[in-house]
Amino acid sequence: MSVHTAATARQTTQTIQQKKQAGEKIAVLTSYDFTLARLVDEAGIDIILVGDSASNVVCGNQTTLPITLDEMIFLAKGVRRAAEHALVVCDMPFGTYQISEEEAVRNAMKIMQLSGVDAVKLEGGEEIMPAIRHMVQAGVPVMGHLGLTPQSVNQFGGYGLRAKGEAEAKKLIRDAHLLEDAGCFSLVLEKIPAALGKRVSEELHIPVIGIGAGNGTDGQVLVLHDMLGFNDGFKPKFLRRFANMAEDVKQAVSAYAEAVRDGSFPNETEQY
Ligand code: KIV
Repeated sequence: MSVHTAATARQTTQTIQQKKQAGEKIAVLTSYDFTLARLVDEAGIDIILVGDSASNVVCGNQTTLPITLDEMIFLAKGVRRAAEHALVVCDMPFGTYQISEEEAVRNAMKIMQLSGVDAVKLEGGEEIMPAIRHMVQAGVPVMGHLGLTPQSVNQFGGYGLRAKGEAEAKKLIRDAHLLEDAGCFSLVLEKIPAALGKRVSEELHIPVIGIGAGNGTDGQVLVLHDMLGFNDGFKPKFLRRFANMAEDVKQAVSAYAEAVRDGSFPNETEQY
């Protein structure tokens, strides 16, 4: 992986789009706090997504639905302060862009003004096209999200693979083109067949970032805590663990507790 240096320019929606044109894959991860976002940024990630998966990862909720606009802004502020090179995108939470176009634009602007992020992401296709058009016209860069859209889990009845059938695949392709036409600078495709992910990526000019959408997309995104192995129990097929933090953290914490209890911490060099 390329590592950012002081000389590395900050990513913009334009530099991200240029990567697709140059045939360079785009690496995206979520982050929700200053400390980890700084490491993610220093390690050379192109886009940091302040995902509403924070609802699960940070807050312990079962779904992404309960997290609020103010909570997302609070998290996004920390990530923004950390990221010197990556483009920072913040998810618009459930209920903040579906009611009316005006409300969607107001909430998107609130996220950008108060947190300083570079762009927002929202889930859905044709249904939210007017809101996306208004946001783009108002100067808000928008990332789309199709396929498994977790805010619709109660309609889907679970987190299974989407667009397996012809009708849903056709709607997804149509929605992807509509999102591009509405001015989205990029698109996330979640948990769909690899062939469909490849087809959409080939048809669109904007970068398509996949999660569980196969190897044919222009980039990949994972939830940071999942790829670092913080969650022993979460093992979807698409997830590769690049570390085993659950084990490392438990080992470190129990070693600390033991050292406190047996009196070996702090030792002479660890006191004043
Ligand atoms: O909220 C999130 O983390 C996301 C990614 C899974 C794409 O939307």
